[in-house]
Amino acid sequence: MTTADYQEQFRPQLHFTPAEMWLNDPNGLVFYEEEYHLFYQYHPESTVWGPMHWGHAVSKDLVHWEHLPIALAPDGNGTIFSGSAVVDKQDTSGFFAGESGLVAIFTQHDKALETDITRQTQSIAFSKDKGRTWTLYANNPVLIEERLTDFRDPKVFWHAPQQKWVMIIAAGDHVRIYTSPNLKDWTYVSEFGAGHGSHAGVWECPDLFALPVDGDAFATKWVLIVSIGDHPDNKEGSRTQYFIGDFDGHTFIPEESPAPTLWLDYGRDNYAGVTWSDFPEEDGRRVLIGWMNNWKYANKIPTSAWRGAMTLPRELSLSTETEGIRVMQRPVRELSSQRRDEERWESFIVSSEYEQEENIFAMPQGELLEIIVELEIGDATEFGLRLSTADNEETIIGYATSEQNLFIDRTKSGTVNFHDDFACKHNAPLKPMDGTIKLTIFVDWSSVEVFSYDGKLVMTDLVFPSSSRKELKLYAKEGSISVKSLTFYTLESIYASKLAPISQS
Ligand code: FRU
Repeated sequence: MTTADYQEQFRPQLHFTPAEMWLNDPNGLVFYEEEYHLFYQYHPESTVWGPMHWGHAVSKDLVHWEHLPIALAPDGNGTIFSGSAVVDKQDTSGFFAGESGLVAIFTQHDKALETDITRQTQSIAFSKDKGRTWTLYANNPVLIEERLTDFRDPKVFWHAPQQKWVMIIAAGDHVRIYTSPNLKDWTYVSEFGAGHGSHAGVWECPDLFALPVDGDAFATKWVLIVSIGDHPDNKEGSRTQYFIGDFDGHTFIPEESPAPTLWLDYGRDNYAGVTWSDFPEEDGRRVLIGWMNNWKYANKIPTSAWRGAMTLPRELSLSTETEGIRVMQRPVRELSSQRRDEERWESFIVSSEYEQEENIFAMPQGELLEIIVELEIGDATEFGLRLSTADNEETIIGYATSEQNLFIDRTKSGTVNFHDDFACKHNAPLKPMDGTIKLTIFVDWSSVEVFSYDGKLVMTDLVFPSSSRKELKLYAKEGSISVKSLTFYTLESIYASKLAPISQS
C-alpha cells in the first residue's frame, strides 16, 4: 500500500479495512502462537460482493493489523463462505503428526450450473505454518444437508467435558448443533430457534460461548449470538440478536421461553459479529468483532478502493440487570494505546436559551476522537452532541428525556443518498443512572460508535461526512442540562507509523 491508500476519503483510521476491494463478515477468528488472526469474507476482484474468498490479517494487539495473502480460495466444492477456526491442540484431526495446528471450518457455496440450485456444504482446511498457507481437506465436504438451502456459517469450539468439538450452524430459521471427535465426522445433536427471538430475516453467523455472570467464574451462562439477514419489510436491515441460556454440550436452553429478542447493537452497522477462539487462558476475555455495515446498502456505500470495515473489537461480559442477564460490551483496552492528548472540562451548564461558545469545540482535520461525557439530566426535553463536519452537515448523538431514548441522527451526516434507508434517526432505550447519562463515543473518519457507560447499550453507525474536520457542539432543547464532565482523547491513526502527517485540506 502507498501512503495515499490509507488516507482516501472515508478510510477508517482505527478500524480494520482491506487494502482494497470488498469485505464482509469476520471469519476464522483465532489466537495462536502470539497472534490474533482475522480472516474475512473477501472478493479480491471487485468492490461489490461476489465469489467469496477468505482474506487474512494478523495482529499482536487487536488494533494494528498486518495484511497477509488470501488464505482460502474457491475450489470445485464452491466459493468460501463464513466459518471459524480452532487450534487443534491434541491433533484430534490427525493433520499435524501429533503436534498442534490450525483447522478452519467453513461453508462452501455452490450453484449447480444446470439446475441453478444452491448448495451449501461444510468443509475444512488446515494450516501447519501459523495460518500462512492452507490445505483444503481431500475428503471435503465434511457435512452435507440436502434438504436446506440456507445451511451455513459453522462456529466450532472444543467442549472439554465430553472431549468433543461442538459446531453451531445456521440452518434457515434456526440453529443446529453437531458434535465431532475429530473435526471430520459430524453428528447432529439438537436444534434451537423455533418460536424464539426475532425471525425478521434468515438466521446467519451463530456463535455460542460461556461467560461468568457478574464476574463470578462459578456462575456461568451461555450466550448464543445469531445474526438476522436483511428483509425488504424490515427498515433496520440486517442486525444481530442474542440469547442467554444454558448449554450441556448437546442442547441450548434459553433462560426464558419463548426467549425475548435482545439486540446486540442498536446501531445500523454491526453485523455477523463473532468472537475469537482460543484467547490465552490467563487473559480469559471473550472478544467480538463485527462487520460494520448493513446488507440493506452494503454494496452501495460511497467508498472507493475498498468497501467494508470491521467494528472496533469489544470485550463481552454478563451482568444481572433488573430485566434479566444481559450482555455488556466495552471497547478492548488495547485501544487506549492510541490515546494522545487529553482534555477535560467539568461542571458547566448547557442551555437552550443561548449558544455558548465555550460549548463548541473545534477539532482539526483528520482528528480521531474518543469522547467520554457525563450529562446530568435537567429540564431539557432533549440534549446531546452534534458532530458537525460542514455547514448544515452533522451527526447527532442525542437523548430524548421523557422517552428515555438515546438516538443517532444521521439524516444530515454527509453523503446519504446512495440508499433510501441510509438517512435515518434511530433510537435505543437507555435509562439514566442517578439522573446521569454517561457515554463513551469513538469517532473515526466514517463511523461513530456509542457505548453506554456500563456497556449495556451500543450503537454503531456508518456516516460519510464531506470532511474529517469536526466541530462538536453540546446542545439542549427547551431547558438545560449540566455537564458533569467532558473528556476528549485525540487518537492516533493505526497507520501513523507508516504515514506522513495527515495533510488533507
Ligand atoms: C452474512 C453472510 C453469511 C455468509 C456470508 C457470505 O453476512 O450472508 O451467512 O456465509 O455472508 O458472504
